Amino acid sequence: MSTTATAHTNIAFIKYWGKKDPILNLPTTSSLSLTLDQFYTQTTVTTHAQADQLILNDIPVDTTRTHQFLNILREQLGNFGPLTVTSTNHVPTSAGLASSASAFAALTGAVTRELKLTIPNEALSRLARRGSGSASRSFYGHFAMWHEGVDDMSSFAESLHAPDMPIALVVAEVSADVKKVSSSEGMRRAVTSPNYGDWLRKSNAQFVDMQAAVMAADIEKIGSLAEDNALSMHALNLTAQQQPFTYFTSETQQILKIVQGLRQQGFLAFATIDAGPNVKIITTLTTAPYVVAALHDMLPQLHIETATSGSGITYD
Ligand code: PMV
Repeated sequence: MSTTATAHTNIAFIKYWGKKDPILNLPTTSSLSLTLDQFYTQTTVTTHAQADQLILNDIPVDTTRTHQFLNILREQLGNFGPLTVTSTNHVPTSAGLASSASAFAALTGAVTRELKLTIPNEALSRLARRGSGSASRSFYGHFAMWHEGVDDMSSFAESLHAPDMPIALVVAEVSADVKKVSSSEGMRRAVTSPNYGDWLRKSNAQFVDMQAAVMAADIEKIGSLAEDNALSMHALNLTAQQQPFTYFTSETQQILKIVQGLRQQGFLAFATIDAGPNVKIITTLTTAPYVVAALHDMLPQLHIETATSGSGITYD
């Protein structure tokens, strides 16, 4: 009658930023992420509703995107009746973290379990990819990589089976008073940058280097590659030939400066930024309190959370 799944959000250290097939959500590059312990979505699906409906954090909300995604699942898994999807985001909206990764992973997992289908995570990742590309990586704990692939079958995510390491992610919430550009819209614009071809080549090389850094548990190398990859991605937005834009605010820039300053003082701290103004600082568990203190010092109003490696999808 009802099934609950819990999926954690993930932060890409090698980013997905461009689609070669917007219907199948095939990316232009492979990507690699860390799943976080602090932020997750818990989703229950219940059958026998009148029509698909979505209740998010106790409030019935617009069902369009969920309904479209459920129809893709109906196509792929065999038709099933209307569902009520009850979702709780333990991703504080105030922290401005993308919840689409954990949301589509949890929904995919819950629906397949409810249908009594036992589907391996790789196949689940291909299904969830259709809802939100980054969701493909949220079935796995710790580090995951999403292979770009050339078609629906070959574009899936898997675990890196990386060694344990004392990695931490300090999430600095920046208030967004700029107009939001969705990730899909941002990607449409970014691919028009004359630098896009160079970015693809660089990202492919960094994807390989990042795998080696992760397997060696070299947090400094992971951080420096991730920061370079993220800043290159954001440079594409600025240099887009169609509607150039930036997700950065002055606070984003201030935080980047603080991170550079910390590095000059010998602390291990590197920044990564997604489709919004928030900054996630890659550091170690022992250095994280110093990063938090430095941020609080300069920007006392900032909302900050510290996360570490989280687990893969679970079912109740
Ligand atoms: O999965 P989407 O459509 O929300 O896009 C995610 C884009 C980034 O977060 C910026 C990068 C990534 O790989 O997660």
